[in-house]
Amino acid sequence: MSTLRSAVPDLTETPRLPVVHEVAEHLQRTPRQLPTHYLYDRLGSTLFEAICHLPWYRIATVEQQLLATHARDIHAIAGPVGVVVELGPGSGEKLVTLLGARQRAALQVRLIDVSVEALEQASRALGAVPGLDVQLARATYEDGLAQLAHAPSVDQTLVVFLGSNIGNFDSADADRLLRAMRTAVGPGSSVLIGADLVKPEAELLLAYDDPLGVTAAFNRNLLVRLNRELGADFDLGGFAHRAVWNAGASRVEMHLVSLRRQHVCLPSAALELTFEAGESIWTERSYKYTAGQLRDMLARAGFGVAAQWERDGFALTLATPSRPATTSDQPTHDH
Ligand code: AVJ
Repeated sequence: MSTLRSAVPDLTETPRLPVVHEVAEHLQRTPRQLPTHYLYDRLGSTLFEAICHLPWYRIATVEQQLLATHARDIHAIAGPVGVVVELGPGSGEKLVTLLGARQRAALQVRLIDVSVEALEQASRALGAVPGLDVQLARATYEDGLAQLAHAPSVDQTLVVFLGSNIGNFDSADADRLLRAMRTAVGPGSSVLIGADLVKPEAELLLAYDDPLGVTAAFNRNLLVRLNRELGADFDLGGFAHRAVWNAGASRVEMHLVSLRRQHVCLPSAALELTFEAGESIWTERSYKYTAGQLRDMLARAGFGVAAQWERDGFALTLATPSRPATTSDQPTHDH
């Protein structure tokens, strides 16, 4: 039986309001932006789950296949693990696949996410895996990792960061997050990173602007949320979803494009915005890497790649601390 403990007392309360000034600050940037994590309220998380079932969005499916195929290799290379920490568990299915294949029975699992919906859904999914002690931490990844670093953890840790979530971070932030992982774990630990790879533009655009319009709904739900939670008056018909491949930056961008000149009120921030026709709000960045770039990023953070599995434009990379040199007992698999 898995027990449920939360690091924060108010986990079951309704989602707190988005921080008004954060939204207002992002909307007043040049170009205008919205905080990406606001995509994931209850409806947004459900729409993202639907995206993962779209034939044009291959990340979730391919990653599941890689995890199912290589779970045993991952456990063999990671060695004895006492704590598994997942940043951004989503539906929890990825971890169920990974942990279902493990040898050792008792395991502590710590899920870190800012989204209550994700934490609750993932802990429900993990209920199907015997022998897990599941802890939920509603926190940013870096805060969650910092808590971990301060915890009197005796066991080796496996940090998993899947679903190409790393793609949401600009290069400097991705480096900082990987270094935070390195700081949080001790010798004998490992990190498992799932990341989407650079591929032809047409494929990328279909994945982020699907013919069913699910991704468009996922993106435009941001405005639904701002209207409901902040009392904004965005006209949903006045903004269109747009996906752009920014080749120079190697990222797919999601935007909400104003279809005409219009005014939007955000009374809770005492703000009125004027949008020109064609002016956009940048809502998400999804960086695409090569397998080599991922190895380099990990090396910069103090990890050495123990194994890397690639399939259909997606890579799963398992790495262990490279400094200090206490990892000589780790088998190294090169693929
Ligand atoms: C969950 C952040 C990895 O960037 O591909 C899916 C979210 N956005 N379709 C991604 C998303 C548009 C997804 N991540």
